[in-house]
Amino acid sequence: MKSRVIVNRNYLVDKIDNRIYSGFVEHLGRAVYEGIYQPGHPSADEDGFRRDVIELIRELDMPLTRYPGGNFVSGYNWEDGVGPREQRPARLDLAWKALEPNLFGTDEFMKWCRKANTAPMMAVNLGTRGAAEAQQLVEYCNFPGGTALSDQRRRNGAEQPYGVKVWCLGNEMDGPWQTGHRTADEYGRTALEAAKMMKWTDPSIELVVCGSSHAGMPTLGEWESKVLDHTYDLVDYLSIHHYFGNRCDTTPGYLAQAESMSDFIDRIVACCDFVRTRRKSQKRIMLSFDEWNVWFHSNGKEVESPEWSVARPLLEDVYTMEDALLVGMLLMTLINHADRVKIACLAQSVNVIAPIMTEKNGKAWRQTTFHPFALTSRYGRGTALRTVVDSPCYDAEYRHDTASLPVNCREIPYLYCACVHNTGRDEVVLFAVNRNLSEAMELELKLEDFDPVSVLEHESISHPDLKAVNSAAEEKVRPVKLAGATLEKNTLKTVLPAASWNMIRISIEK
Ligand code: AHR
Repeated sequence: MKSRVIVNRNYLVDKIDNRIYSGFVEHLGRAVYEGIYQPGHPSADEDGFRRDVIELIRELDMPLTRYPGGNFVSGYNWEDGVGPREQRPARLDLAWKALEPNLFGTDEFMKWCRKANTAPMMAVNLGTRGAAEAQQLVEYCNFPGGTALSDQRRRNGAEQPYGVKVWCLGNEMDGPWQTGHRTADEYGRTALEAAKMMKWTDPSIELVVCGSSHAGMPTLGEWESKVLDHTYDLVDYLSIHHYFGNRCDTTPGYLAQAESMSDFIDRIVACCDFVRTRRKSQKRIMLSFDEWNVWFHSNGKEVESPEWSVARPLLEDVYTMEDALLVGMLLMTLINHADRVKIACLAQSVNVIAPIMTEKNGKAWRQTTFHPFALTSRYGRGTALRTVVDSPCYDAEYRHDTASLPVNCREIPYLYCACVHNTGRDEVVLFAVNRNLSEAMELELKLEDFDPVSVLEHESISHPDLKAVNSAAEEKVRPVKLAGATLEKNTLKTVLPAASWNMIRISIEK
């Protein structure tokens, strides 16, 4: 099977915003407690942060980490999590039926971010609380001093303001499962008032307003239009979320879900631009895809976890080889939409549908999905190039779950790819998945208007068993270097193994 890709140095999607490689830590399951924070663990530092986890987060190189939720934030009192630990109250977390001891809060998170080489992306509670509390958190974090709240932060150990740049105006407010769920108009009004007061407190911040919780929401489109009607002039990004799963074990259709993500982005961009047109505005709203990942392996397992306990294990998906292929392609989709997607957060970072897992009394380990993320985050920076793809195609079916109707996935190219020109490193980097599950693919990449010098490396991830998983004991799925890629003038030739994720780096003349 043969495929061909053409890129041209001058045909660009846009500069990639590095923040598309961001992560997410929610007070959920073992993400915070036993994940990033575990005093007494052999790897814990003086603040109780697990060093083994910090090292792996650094390897993923996530520019932002969204915090503290997720559904959790919609019932959270941020004031419970600051100040002397012995005075902090334990509370019921209604979103996840857990007990929140508040031993880790805003100040600990800021410290952890510095150590993990990431920046905070804070969410405010617009579920059970409102504009006043949101403004107060911005003041606590970002105001230099001389007010009750900013001086409280200084007394709590942070003399300098945290300078948190990106703020989410609540979380998934379109979802009936959300604590304090609102209609689009109710939310739009609240978000507008919160946005005003937050920006009055610190005009340098950027705001993310809630869009749809997933592509199947009954209010899709309508929600975006109404919410943006209220908030258009004050917000910078619209947030969208989507999770993927192979519940009916139809792998070819599952791997076609990268196209669904792409289609979802296109539809939401159209919604944003519809409001732009109606308002005759010059401003373009960008997207923050601040929750995306594979999430289905752990569905239904909540019953095994004791309710109303601290760090009750939840959403601990163990990822397979085929999940790594999809995660790799979802990253390519974000690159291919670099013109409109400026922030994206892999949901989540540790223990909860995460690339990093921890053993309570043992080590931290890398899931299969860790690898495509780490390599794309490290090398997929620069400018996204337009790709012209000529590949054989397949037809497949996909079902979201056993109760849903099959979706026909027609004319799906076996080759899925994204190509980046990294001017800093003088490299062109091709990310490519061969979705043919049984046949290798001969690939030709034509680099128009480039002067390629040499193939730096071809890293590939594949495994004969698509259901293979990693564990603390064994990393079955990980990248290996492949030889054999050749360069003739400005054409690269190589072979992509069946069902493989690949990264090919080519050095170029300036
Ligand atoms: O990431 C897990 C949950 O998924 C988040 O809390 C919520 O925002 C979404 O529904």
